Amino acid sequence: MRDDFEASFDEQLVAIQAEAVDVARTADDLPAALRQVSPATPFCFGYPIPGVGTEDPASILRELDWDADSRLRAASLMRDYCDTSATRDAMLVGVDDAAQLGIARILGVLICAEESAINIFHHECGRLDAQRAAAEQRALREIESEERVHNWLIQQARTYYPQPEDIDAVRRRTKRLFMRVASRDLGEHFARITGLDSGVCISLSALLGSPKVRRASGFARLIRHIRHDEATHVRKSRDHAVDLGFNSANFRDCYALTRTGMVEMLRPISGSFEALDVDPEKLFGRLLRFQGQRDGEGRDLID
Ligand SMILES: [Fe+2]
Ligand SMILES: [Fe+2]
Repeated sequence: MRDDFEASFDEQLVAIQAEAVDVARTADDLPAALRQVSPATPFCFGYPIPGVGTEDPASILRELDWDADSRLRAASLMRDYCDTSATRDAMLVGVDDAAQLGIARILGVLICAEESAINIFHHECGRLDAQRAAAEQRALREIESEERVHNWLIQQARTYYPQPEDIDAVRRRTKRLFMRVASRDLGEHFARITGLDSGVCISLSALLGSPKVRRASGFARLIRHIRHDEATHVRKSRDHAVDLGFNSANFRDCYALTRTGMVEMLRPISGSFEALDVDPEKLFGRLLRFQGQRDGEGRDLID
């Protein structure tokens, strides 16, 4: 697909979903190496129940049985990560030191987002009672499972990159943003998640638009996988917010809040985007510009 982060989010969603994905033949018979639990300690937020987020890939994939395509895509990537020297090459070969540090900071931001999402969707699935439509339960369960896949993949990927000196500051800023956008009003909370997730997609599209990022093929493949899932999370979270009674006329305010927070959080690591040949000011401008999407009544809504 064209990595056009200037396109409206609806246009991006169509292109992302039409993207050809390379998948393994089956999600069964995972290599033995994937049956071991890799040591993964929470980076930003603890996991909701002991072990969630740190399980072996077979256990994570078992939860993804709702969606065969998603399961196959995840299994394919996880299986390839077993070949650690090929993965190391894909992550590092041809990637200069500044770009490696830039990728490490961006992965730090992403891991916070995954941990936060695992918690939110896990608790929301548990809160919905049996009366709630099965489809709604399923959509949330799918998101939680996909976030656990992302979490595992990013945890693995991070081990190949150097640890930036300012990684604690990156963690603190990201954590602060996620805590700040939390709302007691659940509809509003999920509407804000929509603003964050679509912002993540736009940021990943900006990265994938850079030839330098695409040459870091292991990192590019990882963020392409995450972007594919996050694009569908935007749609599901938006539907869930409206189901919870959120007034769609207020999406714009949610987006203004979440995207302003995102830009503030990312601005101190502008240099990481520059190191990857991505213009940070162009990206920040795009994150703050809501264009093209429409609510149910056809009014201009968000991005
Ligand atoms: Fe995710
Ligand atoms: Fe997500």
